Amino acid sequence: MIYISQFNQLALRDAAVSEVKIFDTTLRDGEQTPGIALSLRDKVRIAEALDEMGVHVIEAGFPTISEGEQQAVRSIAELKLDSRICGLARSTRKDIDAAMACGVDYIHTFIATSDIHLKYKLKMSREEVKSRAIEAIEYARSHGLTVEFSCEDATRTDLDFLKEMHIAAQDAGAQTINVPDTVGVISPAAMEYLVSELVKVTKVPISVHCHNDFGLAVANSLAAVRAGARQVHVCVNGLGERSGNAALEEVAMGLFAYHGIEAVDLSQIGQVCRTVSRLTGYPLPNNKPIVGKNAFAHESGIHVHGVLGNASTYEAFVPELVGMHRQIVLGKHSGAHSVRDKLDQLKIDVPESLLPVLVNRVKELAETGKEVDDAELMALADHIMARGDRQDIVKLKEFAVFTGKGITPTATVTVEMEDGSSNTRSMTGIGPVDAAINAIRGAVNESIILDEYRLSAITGGSDSLCEVTVVIKDSSNGGKASVGKGIGSDIVQTSVEATMNAINRNYHRIKEDRN
Ligand code: KIV
Ligand code: ZN
Repeated sequence: MIYISQFNQLALRDAAVSEVKIFDTTLRDGEQTPGIALSLRDKVRIAEALDEMGVHVIEAGFPTISEGEQQAVRSIAELKLDSRICGLARSTRKDIDAAMACGVDYIHTFIATSDIHLKYKLKMSREEVKSRAIEAIEYARSHGLTVEFSCEDATRTDLDFLKEMHIAAQDAGAQTINVPDTVGVISPAAMEYLVSELVKVTKVPISVHCHNDFGLAVANSLAAVRAGARQVHVCVNGLGERSGNAALEEVAMGLFAYHGIEAVDLSQIGQVCRTVSRLTGYPLPNNKPIVGKNAFAHESGIHVHGVLGNASTYEAFVPELVGMHRQIVLGKHSGAHSVRDKLDQLKIDVPESLLPVLVNRVKELAETGKEVDDAELMALADHIMARGDRQDIVKLKEFAVFTGKGITPTATVTVEMEDGSSNTRSMTGIGPVDAAINAIRGAVNESIILDEYRLSAITGGSDSLCEVTVVIKDSSNGGKASVGKGIGSDIVQTSVEATMNAINRNYHRIKEDRN
């Protein structure tokens, strides 16, 4: 299910598009991302995953650059996948030969056409560039290759010359002509204008290759489609030179949402994006559209309430469409609905009377910037249920601990006793926890001794909640043992909470024994 704006249909009613091909360049432009170097094995795995999801063309590499690159392109070509396997080549026989030697039957050949590139990089005239392109295309076609041609830096090329190049390229036999926004400088409106101009002179399908320097690569690609482009170059997770290329997952969802085209198997998106993230070592930002951790996560009480009623209230489409899952996150904006929903999922039955206590604990923890995960929620729920509705007999009013290198840890505690009186005591200890427990004993009852202390982390992370279990014995109560537990993110405070719980349990038992 997809719940998009009705204005899309109104705005796009004249742009009927039935087929758009996906040309994936994760293994070529994506691998040019600073810091990424994929092994041959990883490249093969990515190619297989792209093929599996139905990508039309995979640009497997730039064979002329190295032996290793050739080996990777050759290995991928040998897989005989359904996707067409393409090698990149400058407009030279040497580059085209290198691609052919890898066994590909599709090449993407390019030459720069903007005056900036002609003057400062190629030091060639427009006429020289044109003949070089024609010669390369004819050479590749004469060897039976499918040829896609690009005017590099097309979006900064003089329009008349660009049209001249397109006509020359198609006359030479290019079967697709790609329009690279090499430096990511065009706007969606300008891309729409440019492609609609090029469509007038280009008989073969037009493709676009958009870089993301202004964060507009996907918008520019979709604008090009509106104007008549029938192929889009993409990289998984928006990888690529500098700020990257148009992201496969975003373009694919844009084509589906706005034109009803399922260019690839959308349900594989989540898996493919995670695999590429893992193999490239480039983490997916939490707020990455479509596949980020937060893409289908809801925390605020109002949103969770809405989504639990009907997902369309706060979701553009159901996560399962792209192989993702909805997540209700417990954080500082969470309300009772979120906590109850999570408890139901975990099959934990917390009585309604204790729910506000649990919601408050979640919020308190979240105030410190912590997200409460499932294991931690279970531990908190257990802890609160074990305590039940029991009121504290001795209440902790104030607590401070002073510690540091070369300083004897000292804790000061103020407690309110059952009769309303206040006791304050400062004590030292061999560590902050020891000092805190000594101060509590001093303030409450010297006859209490600490018999056992256990600390464990509930989950693995450095900000995970810890659980402290304390066993005390009270010689004024026949040496009976009482257990107290605390759960929290701060070890000292959680130890204090556990000790106070044990003390209160002890006093409740004394009362029960009396009655
Ligand atoms: O960005 C670009 O211009 C390219 C070319 C090789 C098409 O990647
Ligand atoms: Zn590029």
